Amino acid sequence: MQDFIEVESPIDLRQTEDAAQWAAEAMIKRPWRTEFFDRFAQELAGAQRVLELGSGPGFLARHLLDALPQLRLDLYDFSEAMHALARERLGVQESRVRFRLGDFRQADWADDLPSFDAVITNQAAHEVRHKRHLPALHRQARSLLRPGAPYLLCDHFAGEGGMADDQLYATVEEQRAALREAGFGEADLLLQKGGLALFRAR
Ligand SMILES: C[S@@+](CC[C@H](N)C(=O)[O-])C[C@H]1O[C@@H](n2cnc3c(N)ncnc32)[C@H](O)[C@@H]1O
Repeated sequence: MQDFIEVESPIDLRQTEDAAQWAAEAMIKRPWRTEFFDRFAQELAGAQRVLELGSGPGFLARHLLDALPQLRLDLYDFSEAMHALARERLGVQESRVRFRLGDFRQADWADDLPSFDAVITNQAAHEVRHKRHLPALHRQARSLLRPGAPYLLCDHFAGEGGMADDQLYATVEEQRAALREAGFGEADLLLQKGGLALFRAR
C-alpha cells in the first residue's frame, strides 16, 4: 500500500464544460505560455514525429504545427472533450495529427506506442496526482524515445514563485531528481517563469 495520499482534482477535464472552461482561461491566466511554446519549437527543429502527453485543447500543438512544417504530432489525452477542442483549434492542420485516447496513470500506457523523435508535455505531468508518481511517468516517456531524443517537460513547480501544494507539484530540484530516477542522464532547466519550469532530459 502506498504511504501517501493522492491529490484529488477539483475539476474533471473529461467533462465538456470543465474542458471548455479550462481552455477558455488558460492563455488569459498565463499569457507567458507562448514563450514556453516558442522554446519547445526551438528545441524541436528537425524533429519529424513527436508525442505530446496531456495535449488538451491543442494550444501547443497548433503553435508547433504552424512553426515547424516537417512536424507530425501524436496527441495523447484521456479526454475526448479535450481532443474535440483540439480538432477545432487545429483546423486543416489536423491532417498532420494522430489523436490517441489513453490514461497515462495506467502502468502499461506506453506499451503499444511506437518510438518518437521527442516526447513533450506541458502543464500536464502533475495530472499523475502526486509528485511521487512522476518518476514512473517519466520512465515510460523515456521508453518511447529514439536514442538521444529529448523529453521536454514543462509543468508547474512547488516553492518560491510557484505553487503552494508541495504534494501535487514537485520543486524544480525534485523534478530534476524524478527525471534522474527515471533513467535520464541529463536534465537541463531551459526556462523558468511565472510558476512554470521547462526541462530537457535525455
Ligand atoms: C491542465 S491541462 C493542460 C493541457 C495542455 N497541455 C496545455 O497546456 O494547454 C491537462 C491535460 O491533461 C489531460 N489529462 C489529465 N489526466 C490525464 C491522464 N491520466 N491521462 C492522460 N491525459 C490526462 C487532461 O485531459 C488535460 O487535457
